Amino acid sequence: MPTLLIQNGTIVNADSTVRADLLIGGGIVKDVRPAIPPNSAQTIVDATGLLILPGGIDAHTHLDMPFGGTTSSDDFETGTRAAAIGGTTTIVDFAIQARGTKMRTALDTWWKKAEGKACIDYGLHMIVTDLSDAGLEDMDDLVREGVASFKLFMAYPNALMVDDATIFKAMRQTAKNGALICMHAENGSVIDVIVQQALAEGKTAPIYHALTRPTQAEAEAVHRAIAMAEIAGAPVYIVHLSSEDALNQVREARDRGLPAFAETCPQYLLLSLEDVADKGWEGAKYVFTPPLRERRNQPKLWEGLRKDNLQVVSTDHCPFCFEDQKALGKDDFSKIPNGGPGIENRLQLLHHHGVGKGHFSINRFVELVSTAPARIFGMYPKKGVLAVGSDADVVLWDPFASHTISAATHHMRVDYSMFEGFKLRGNARDVYSRGELIVSKGNFIGKPGRGQYLRRQARGGAWK
Ligand code: URP
Ligand code: ZN
Ligand code: ZN
Repeated sequence: MPTLLIQNGTIVNADSTVRADLLIGGGIVKDVRPAIPPNSAQTIVDATGLLILPGGIDAHTHLDMPFGGTTSSDDFETGTRAAAIGGTTTIVDFAIQARGTKMRTALDTWWKKAEGKACIDYGLHMIVTDLSDAGLEDMDDLVREGVASFKLFMAYPNALMVDDATIFKAMRQTAKNGALICMHAENGSVIDVIVQQALAEGKTAPIYHALTRPTQAEAEAVHRAIAMAEIAGAPVYIVHLSSEDALNQVREARDRGLPAFAETCPQYLLLSLEDVADKGWEGAKYVFTPPLRERRNQPKLWEGLRKDNLQVVSTDHCPFCFEDQKALGKDDFSKIPNGGPGIENRLQLLHHHGVGKGHFSINRFVELVSTAPARIFGMYPKKGVLAVGSDADVVLWDPFASHTISAATHHMRVDYSMFEGFKLRGNARDVYSRGELIVSKGNFIGKPGRGQYLRRQARGGAWK
């Protein structure tokens, strides 16, 4: 691979903004300093007027995932291509342990799904559905394979939900092996009672998905997850946190010094229940879990990002086509496949609404979309920073480029956008993955299958 010198740009890391050049060779960053001599490299790129960012890391995606009676519509090729176009160079997706089987089998299955398809580097969390005694050792095996995090569900009874004993056992194991438990925190049993009652009353429209999942059911589960983690002496990471009630639980835990972490997603920051209340069947496009919340929650989530009570913004990208997949729940909202698309637009949305509207600095933006997920999920400093020795995952970001989101022009394999018509400033121009140009002027030019599986490091208890 030829050496590459990116000149005249502004390098933005989570902790610094510097006018400097970036020298890349052998897929890694070789030098970062002003005025690197041009004869150091075979290829020179002029980044005048552009920001040079570490590639985005989306720590929560569901590609090619069987769920809700169908399979998410993006596979590892279409999903990672769309991610790259939006400036994301790493994802962490989820393999699912089938009940009664070994987690190792699921890991092999997901490696096959990615093989020949992944356009960017990827890691895998393991979704734990069954934790017999052998399963505890299984977890240690997976940590050795670079699966440094496990997701457990307190929701979706009769599908992915596990009981508190399973959660607690898994947490105790991660207290020993250094991995991280990611928690889908909603009280699934309580929600199920409310859902069944709504259906019995003939309330079948998509909006009842949101109206049957109160914020207290999220907050209660967050509280319980953190309490169990505290007893187990383990850290915990709350995924797709959506409400002020839930955030208060994380904040209180962090104020007590506990290693509790949480992410939110663009949909919770930018869309609300009020936006979809009168959409009728179209509301199925916004059926994901947790659901959209009342608008008053949004400023609290932005504040959470600013004050570091929320550390990460990921997408929970789990696309289902409106026409033929969301339609599975035409007569019953509880049968609408849960999930929404967003892998392509995370950086654009966060840059425009987060940095552009003054919620946080460009450095905090980099931290939320790249550096913090790299640290929390065991990829730092290989990923998440532009420093000597790091992978040359680089985004040349044009902070003034304007862009309107539309399903007509996006690259995700799904027939709608949750952010249709959003007008944004700031977009990825060129994207490098391990020094290879994979997006040039917004066009994907990389090869499917070039993405590598990432063996992530368990933190070994170094959380505080
Ligand atoms: O609705 C959602 N979030 N679908 C994906 C699965 C999950 O719970 O993360
Ligand atoms: Zn979830
Ligand atoms: Zn998810």
